[in-house]
Amino acid sequence: MAIDLSGKTAVITGSTKGIGRSVAEAMVAAGGSVVISSRTAGDVAAATAELNEQGPGRAHGIPCDVRDGEACAQLIEGAVEAFGGIDILVNNAGLGRFAKIQEMETEFWDTQIRTNLDGVFHCSRAAVPHLIRKGEGWIINIGSLAGRNAFSGGVAYNATKFGLLGMTEAMMLDLRHEGIRVTCIMPGSVNTHFFEGGPHPEHEWKLQGEDLARLVMDLLAFPPRALPSKIEIRPSQPPRK
Ligand SMILES: NC(=O)c1ccc[n+]([C@@H]2O[C@H](COP(=O)([O-])OP(=O)(O)OC[C@H]3O[C@@H](n4cnc5c(N)ncnc54)[C@H](OP(=O)(O)O)[C@@H]3O)[C@@H](O)[C@H]2O)c1
Repeated sequence: MAIDLSGKTAVITGSTKGIGRSVAEAMVAAGGSVVISSRTAGDVAAATAELNEQGPGRAHGIPCDVRDGEACAQLIEGAVEAFGGIDILVNNAGLGRFAKIQEMETEFWDTQIRTNLDGVFHCSRAAVPHLIRKGEGWIINIGSLAGRNAFSGGVAYNATKFGLLGMTEAMMLDLRHEGIRVTCIMPGSVNTHFFEGGPHPEHEWKLQGEDLARLVMDLLAFPPRALPSKIEIRPSQPPRK
């Protein structure tokens, strides 16, 4: 179902590339106002300019490292200043780094946790008062099938995505009676910069960013009474093992 996002504002963390970028493109195409963000100021400026070119919605860029709580607060305040409020927060920024416990440095663990878990906490806590004031809104957390299936080398990544699933469900219960819906989307492999070397032309079997964008847009089209709170999506035909 096509949805019109005119008059709606979304903040998408990690939206210069990959899944976040595809979601931003779909929202701007649907007339929404979207705050583009990542750690890399040059990429934020370039993506924002490209999206404003595409329209008909609007984009506004605010660089933000989600590991930094103060920067996350400024991201949300900047969105409210630019567009007058916030309706949708997509906690998408995330890293996948893989190492076995016997080889893992503390810095490696910290980076993974601070990006994939702390970042969601910082941005959500900053956004929630604005959403509560409106009495409606949606927080969409991009989890992973790695939030349900552990694998060797996944100690840190699995911890973040299992944690994110629990955090999302608890937030959903905290916020549902305020009119705020909270959803965890759990993708399998998506052809993005998440993997070394970036998107691979021969990886057509993987999900593509636009598949996740479609899922987010379909989700937003549900009537206020309905809350798909946990969604798994995977490639239909991965290579046979
Ligand atoms: N690709 C997959 O197979 C897959 C599967 C399941 C779940 N996911 C999840 O999907 C989400 C998006 O991943 P993706 O595949 O789209 O990866 P991607 O193509 O590498 O894009 C990641 C985005 O996040 C930004 N980012 C990274 N660290 C950040 C930080 N500390 N603060 C703010 N922005 C940051 C990146 O920009 P900068 O580096 O410039 O900051 C980039 O814009 C992640 O949460 C990931 O765990 C991915």
